[in-house]
Amino acid sequence: MLSDSTVTLRRYQELWDGFRQRGLRQGLYTAGGVVMRDTLLDLHGPDHQLRRRVENRLFRRGTFKTWEADLVPRIIDEAFTPVIKQGHADLVLLGTRTVMNLTAKVAGIDRTTGSVEETDALQEFAIKFSEGATLIHTTRDPEVVRAEVAEALGRFDAMFFTPSYERRVALAEDPEVPEDAYPGDVLMALVRNREELRIDRDVMLREVAFYLQAGSHSTSDAFTHAVDEILRWAERHPEQAHRLDDDLFVQRCVHEALRLHPASPEALREAVEDVTLRDGRSIPAGTRVRMDIKAANTDPEVFGPDAAVFDPDRVTPAGVQPWGHTFGGGMHACIGMELDGGTVPKEGEAEHVLGTVPLMVRELLRHGVRLDPASPPVKEAHSKRDHFGGYPVLFGAAVTPE
Ligand code: HEM
Repeated sequence: MLSDSTVTLRRYQELWDGFRQRGLRQGLYTAGGVVMRDTLLDLHGPDHQLRRRVENRLFRRGTFKTWEADLVPRIIDEAFTPVIKQGHADLVLLGTRTVMNLTAKVAGIDRTTGSVEETDALQEFAIKFSEGATLIHTTRDPEVVRAEVAEALGRFDAMFFTPSYERRVALAEDPEVPEDAYPGDVLMALVRNREELRIDRDVMLREVAFYLQAGSHSTSDAFTHAVDEILRWAERHPEQAHRLDDDLFVQRCVHEALRLHPASPEALREAVEDVTLRDGRSIPAGTRVRMDIKAANTDPEVFGPDAAVFDPDRVTPAGVQPWGHTFGGGMHACIGMELDGGTVPKEGEAEHVLGTVPLMVRELLRHGVRLDPASPPVKEAHSKRDHFGGYPVLFGAAVTPE
């Protein structure tokens, strides 16, 4: 039973601890059950462990390394080439289109045409599912939102899920098809393991819908913020702009931007039993625990007195990731973290992954991305969150008047 009391954690170490407390259960998605019920992020305890084990197999470093050599550059190329040719783009739109194609592939949504219109249709579904997931924060009538999300889920089911699901069920039931010929995606993993996971088609539909929104919005948001921070940094440090030719430096910039602009600025948990934090504080069962990721990521005790400043040369203490808590931690730590942000380079490391966001940013930098002086970026209207609503850019060197 939930009480009315809420505890807020804001310090880096407090969040590190909070994410790892087994007595704290996910608390953000109960209201958004229409799309989130029984999805990975909403499960707790042994059910979560079992599902995570099955899905983790798809998110291996070796797989990302292979994708980075071929699949991701191809997806980036398809989305970027037309706008680079036309000389201008909106980064919010470009980011979402690029990422939607990758996310659909990871989730296991088959595309029939691969057209921009189809990508945009998926994007509209993802936006609606995201509104459904975060129903707890809605300022609209929750019943109206719930009905809209249920309706969208029905259309998504007919247009995308049913054909993708039926193809995978047929593959799993055909003894002639060897397992290594199965598509390596979330839906196939669920279909193959549905008995062990004790899940039905409805749970699979919600899981795929959840992936679609979990993977897309946060990635495109990270992409736009990273480019924004880099362009402003390059303006402040023109003498260092050449460093952006180095992929590892670009990755450091992305990590620093991820720290300053967490796509989910807070996580929420509910104490399912009495919990004692590492600092000795007691949290009685039923208490809500707000974890302020944005505040913890600028904790001066960990990131220094200039924690709020973008500094790609920042060195974090041992055991602290350069992106802070942006990908969460503990049992619900983001499964797509290395796919998006790559790995922090280590000496003697055999498999360094650069990450999808650094690869996307690098591609823009290679084509001389710059702000459009006639059209400055704007933040999302009607949102308290730190997201860009539009980010117009130009490509190629600026022509200076004689
Ligand atoms: C910059 C990009 C991303 C950011 C900032 C991000 C952030 C997060 C955060 C903060 C959580 C934990 C939420 C909590 O503890 O309540 C999370 C979980 C998750 N993320 Fe991400 N994410 C990103 C990209 C992705 C991608 C690309 C995918 C998949 C393709 C993905 C799939 C997931 C899943 C499945 C979970 C739930 C894990 C679990 O409950 O075990 N995310 N993400």
